[in-house]
Amino acid sequence: MTPTVAYRSYAKLNLHLDVLNRRNDGYHNIETIFQTVDLGDTLQFSERRSRISLNCNSTDIDAGEDNLVWRAADLLRRRSGCRLGVRIDLEKRIPVAAGLGGGSGNAAAALVALNALWGLGLDKKQLAEFALELGSDVPFCLDGGTAAGTGRGEVLTRLKPPPIPWFVLLHPPLSISTSRIFNHPALARRKTVPRGGHTPAFKRVLEAFEKGQVPDTLINRFETVVFADQPKLAVLKQRLLDAGCTTAAMSGTGPTLFGICNTKKQAQQAAETFPEMKTTVARRVKVGVERTD
Ligand code: C5P
Repeated sequence: MTPTVAYRSYAKLNLHLDVLNRRNDGYHNIETIFQTVDLGDTLQFSERRSRISLNCNSTDIDAGEDNLVWRAADLLRRRSGCRLGVRIDLEKRIPVAAGLGGGSGNAAAALVALNALWGLGLDKKQLAEFALELGSDVPFCLDGGTAAGTGRGEVLTRLKPPPIPWFVLLHPPLSISTSRIFNHPALARRKTVPRGGHTPAFKRVLEAFEKGQVPDTLINRFETVVFADQPKLAVLKQRLLDAGCTTAAMSGTGPTLFGICNTKKQAQQAAETFPEMKTTVARRVKVGVERTD
């Protein structure tokens, strides 16, 4: 029988996201709180003799050599000297280019799965290094749960799960390029990183999370530039608040918006006020990827 493993990779939200300065390597230092939620893609990996092949149920993504999953497999093979191949079947549920880190989670699943399938014996530190080569959010996606992220987002500190029982996610039918938003001329940036590493605002956010509270100052620094291009998103955010969500914000560089709700019923009722759009009622999860076979 062909050796096969199956994994699920979860979507992430940025509960808080601030942009600091542009660095010499072209990336930005950020301050974020990541949270994985139970909206997941599934991936099946079957060993093949020598080639990497990727099949996907969605026409929204390119399943070729530019796909992060393919690149993750290729990177592992090149660095480990492994000659084995793999057929990967990817079933997408997480909207693409939506601020939910779907592609990053898929890449994290590929690293973990192929380390197991090909018997590479790489440790967590090596996987995290490969993850960062694939993308800034991929290291977080390896572990998932609730974490503070600084640097490019790869300097991670695990946090207590916040008392956020339910999320309602709105999926406006738009794709947004992360790099376009990070490099937008109107994005407010700092010249330097604050002394001691964190801005006072992020310190307050972290303190609240450490006390098991949801801070009332959660922000997403990208909202200003993204909402200026897409004013409908600002209206949707206000509608989430009007529908009873205690907090609402955009995730990543958008367009996904999320609202925080106290009960499942409240989240479902809030979702029903958006009949024109795809929505998800979600709960937090403690992992980024998980084996399902
Ligand atoms: O790391 P990732 O490939 O996801 O980033 C996509 C683009 O977003 C980068 O090429 C860069 O322009 C921008 N980016 C950034 N600072 C970060 C993360 C991403 O400037 N911390």
